[in-house]
Amino acid sequence: EKGGFDHFMLKEIHEQPKAYRDTMLGRVNDDGKGVHFSDLKLTAEQIRNIRNVQIIACGTAYHAGLVGRNIIEKLAHIPVETDVASEYRYRSPIVNKDTLVIVVSQSGETADTLAALREAQANGAHVIAITNVVGSSIARDADDVIATLAGPEIAVASTKAYTSQLIAFYLFGLYMAEIRGTQTTEEITRTLAAMDSLPEQVEKVLEMAPEIKEYAEHIAQHKHLFFIGRGVDYAVVQEGSLKLKEISYIHSEAYAAGELKHGTLALIEDGIPVIALATQEDVIEKTVSNIKEVKARGGEVMVVSYEENREDLLKSVDTVMTIPRTLPILSPALSVVVLQLLAYYASLALEHDVDKPRNLAKSVTVE
Ligand code: M6R
Repeated sequence: EKGGFDHFMLKEIHEQPKAYRDTMLGRVNDDGKGVHFSDLKLTAEQIRNIRNVQIIACGTAYHAGLVGRNIIEKLAHIPVETDVASEYRYRSPIVNKDTLVIVVSQSGETADTLAALREAQANGAHVIAITNVVGSSIARDADDVIATLAGPEIAVASTKAYTSQLIAFYLFGLYMAEIRGTQTTEEITRTLAAMDSLPEQVEKVLEMAPEIKEYAEHIAQHKHLFFIGRGVDYAVVQEGSLKLKEISYIHSEAYAAGELKHGTLALIEDGIPVIALATQEDVIEKTVSNIKEVKARGGEVMVVSYEENREDLLKSVDTVMTIPRTLPILSPALSVVVLQLLAYYASLALEHDVDKPRNLAKSVTVE
């Protein structure tokens, strides 16, 4: 049942290329120049009239929503807020018929996400559910469903569901961009072509397993570590930090790289591992200066970036890992796989129950 893998988590990490393809299948136009969602009730007119988007979810699905915010703002130019469902439902959110609410849930059964969905609907919002289970409570209650076709996810730590949620956000972002005229056909075509390469590029990241394992065995000897990044990299490191905590029980925190010096830098001392994502060329120099601040306090830095930056980065960091080149907005679909494998191998090194971490359940159906 684990298809030759030692754990469901590793199997599911390896199923990501297929999950990407399946989630794209049937939604990209044959000419590769656009996207269609033929089964959505949400009309083109509604899409043109949306004033704001609220993305609501828990845990890893919330982290996919953080990337989703970057995607929708960049592609469709609509203001987006992303919130955790347990906060949203109790904070009198400003939501009305011009708000598009997107709830994200692998299982479709998360109690807080379901309650937030109902709260939004009661206020007149149109609610789209991005979910992996089409017969779920959330899918049933939502006005529209965008199914992620990741296949059943068994490991408690979510991997392929998260990345399929990213694919759903890319497709839906492009769809809205086309209708709202915020991206040209050339731009949309270029992004879709780059998305087409993602499955093969994920295979390349999977081949990095030996070097990631070695680094994971090193960090497994530490009690605390930090993750930093900017823009979508910040969203991805939050997911990487959760994944690591969840299955390796190593304490970590994820920070926006520019926030470090506003307090957290005080915790950096000799030998503390700091994992940086630096895939966004427009801010890479800023991230590098944050890395230097960490190095100056004795931190030991590993950075995930692109091959072209390796030589430069090696002047300021201890370890560099490189992912295949893609468009800036698409990098989460590759960089997160490094962090998934890191969490997996750290958990393995510490001999924890990778698929069934302590205190956690796959689906959280109580508040
Ligand atoms: O089924 P859902 O996507 O609604 O679940 C939300 C979270 O409980 C879930 O993502 C949790 O954070 C994972 N165990 C993380 O790996």
